Amino acid sequence: MQKNILVTGGAGYIGSHVTVRLHEEGFQPILLDNFSNANKSVLEGLKKITGKVFPCYEGDVLDEALLGKIFSTHQIQGVIHFAAKKAVGESVEKPLSYYKNNVSGLITLLEAMMSHGVAQLVFSSSCTVYGQPDELPVTEGSPKKPANSPYGNTKQIGEEIIEDTVKSGQRLQSIALRYFNPIGAHPSAAIGELPLGTPNNLVPFITQTAAGLRKELTVFGNDYHTPDGTCIRDYIHVMDLADAHVQCLKHLETLAENHHFDVINVGTGNGSTVLEAIQSFEKVTGKKLPYTLGLRRPGDVEKVYAAAEKAKEVLHWQAHLTLDDAMRDAWHWQQKISGSDKSPM
Ligand code: NAD
Ligand code: UD1
Repeated sequence: MQKNILVTGGAGYIGSHVTVRLHEEGFQPILLDNFSNANKSVLEGLKKITGKVFPCYEGDVLDEALLGKIFSTHQIQGVIHFAAKKAVGESVEKPLSYYKNNVSGLITLLEAMMSHGVAQLVFSSSCTVYGQPDELPVTEGSPKKPANSPYGNTKQIGEEIIEDTVKSGQRLQSIALRYFNPIGAHPSAAIGELPLGTPNNLVPFITQTAAGLRKELTVFGNDYHTPDGTCIRDYIHVMDLADAHVQCLKHLETLAENHHFDVINVGTGNGSTVLEAIQSFEKVTGKKLPYTLGLRRPGDVEKVYAAAEKAKEVLHWQAHLTLDDAMRDAWHWQQKISGSDKSPM
């Protein structure tokens, strides 16, 4: 029988790609999303790729009654918890909204899981917990640095809440996946990232600029201590990231003990500068990207990339797709949603 997996935030960027991979691996995804940062069209994209319509509850992870209904209606084997607000700048302006949504949301979910005997939880964490690491590549043993935004703090607190719940003796088996920089889209271009308003993140900004929706990209700083002076990140294709979640669920199923918490980096292990990312985009699309070199963005870390060995050892997972693959897929997706560029690849 198919195992039911509750995917909170399943209509979002990462959740939708994970939903596809869950289905392909024989799991039954059950989505819960309040569509605060997702569009209903993603459900059509999921149907196009998989040929299936998955159960999808439109509602809030803070809604205890709704969670109770979902856990009572479906025999849930495990939960992947994506539902969260994620805009760093907005979290500085509206901290309470972020703590309520991301922290209270997690607590409400954990309570519902505990009262319905659901033990397996994959939690979306972030490399932001490391701040600027002292040593690179950054391993899971590196100290967490004080969060530089309420958003980042919700990830640190989230990990601690789960760890404390496990320590308390509750039946809970959980892994926090610390994502590096997810980019790209499903190769079919049926689903991808749909940023609302002006994107903060590099790749949506690049693709929107190339599509003519924005005048030019500003590279935030070229005086860092890196080979070309621009910041270094570990860009990971969202389909590789999706695979890591499936592997994580499979790993949780094998655990003998009922109480388990671990943190695992999900990155490629390779760092790329902003200029390298631009060059990759230009190479795979044949398009020249208009950009200028600008000032540093406050709060940016200079360089961060993952030590990826633990994911390989524990989850038997490693990234296979390249920065070029991700840029190509991100561009196909951008062309699909903007319909503004039909130039050959
Ligand atoms: P996203 O905004 O595309 O997806 C999150 C989804 O959750 C959205 O569809 C939104 O409508 C939904 N949601 C938010 N609050 C909800 C609530 N209270 N109840 C129900 N649904 C709710 O974001 P994403 O990029 O797919 O990120 C998924 C997770 O991964 C988040 O927890 C995010 O913090 C984390 N993360 C993302 C990145 C990244 O760069 N995208 C990096 C590190 C960690
Ligand atoms: C951002 C978030 C971080 C989150 C991560 C992954 C901030 C301050 N941090 O970090 O909390 O964990 O995404 O979701 O928002 N860049 C430009 N020009 C642009 C946009 C970006 O040069 O217009 C550069 C940035 O300076 C950075 C790189 O591109 O060096 C990547 O930026 P971005 O995609 O925003 O990710 P992070 O900085 O890693």
